Amino acid sequence: MPVHFSTLLIEPPGVDSEVLKVMLAPEKFRVESAENGIQAWNLIQESDPPDLVVMDVDLPQKGSIRVGGIQLLQLINQKQGWREVPKIILTSTPDSDMLKKIPTDSIEAVIVKPYDPMRFMNEVYDSLSRQLERHISEVNQQHIQLASMLHELNELTDKRVKKSLQYKKLKQFSAFLELHFHLEEQFMSQHHFSMLVEHSKNHLLMLETVNKIFNDVISDRHTLTSEDLEQIKQGIFGDVNDDKDYIDYLQNIRLELMA
Ligand SMILES: [Fe+2]
Ligand SMILES: [Fe+2]
Repeated sequence: MPVHFSTLLIEPPGVDSEVLKVMLAPEKFRVESAENGIQAWNLIQESDPPDLVVMDVDLPQKGSIRVGGIQLLQLINQKQGWREVPKIILTSTPDSDMLKKIPTDSIEAVIVKPYDPMRFMNEVYDSLSRQLERHISEVNQQHIQLASMLHELNELTDKRVKKSLQYKKLKQFSAFLELHFHLEEQFMSQHHFSMLVEHSKNHLLMLETVNKIFNDVISDRHTLTSEDLEQIKQGIFGDVNDDKDYIDYLQNIRLELMA
């Protein structure tokens, strides 16, 4: 079975850390680990966001640059792409003032030590499952937005419409399409989707078509027509159709996770 989920474990060395690594079984999880705040922060700087962060907030303060648990969480939440990553927090001092300072963004659960391993794993599965669901719904939402942006553009093909408005909307559309493809490709690569290369090729072809039309329009070599937009619409439909395989794949790994 392929490894689907990447986890960053931030936990001081010891029995707890070893037990956590055993629970996050290697056939489902690829675990990277850090033993203190500064090590974790260095690792985060050079890594892509994982699917899940499991973190002990009572981190040892080592070395000349000290990064405590709460500070680390604040830093993570400021970092592009990392804020949305679900986080499970472990602590041995549930009554401390420190806990009240935990930034609540994307914290899925706070688990007090000593904890029940079953509860911990249930939180892990639930967090990952919710994350997959959120991603699927975001992809679908973006498809709807692309369709509505195209619809809006179609209304701007009238010759009386100001060129500057057309350019602005075309630019927004092209940028959003690129963002959409990037979101899909990053997630596909993170979860080892086997048709990634083929799928990305179609994304690239489509971006090239869109940008060619747009560049011709913006440089006044061509006037935007509803035929252009129809061609782009067909491309979007093609992508939505290809995405079905990808969404099915995500649903399957979600089921596999819960099995
Ligand atoms: Fe796609
Ligand atoms: Fe898509």
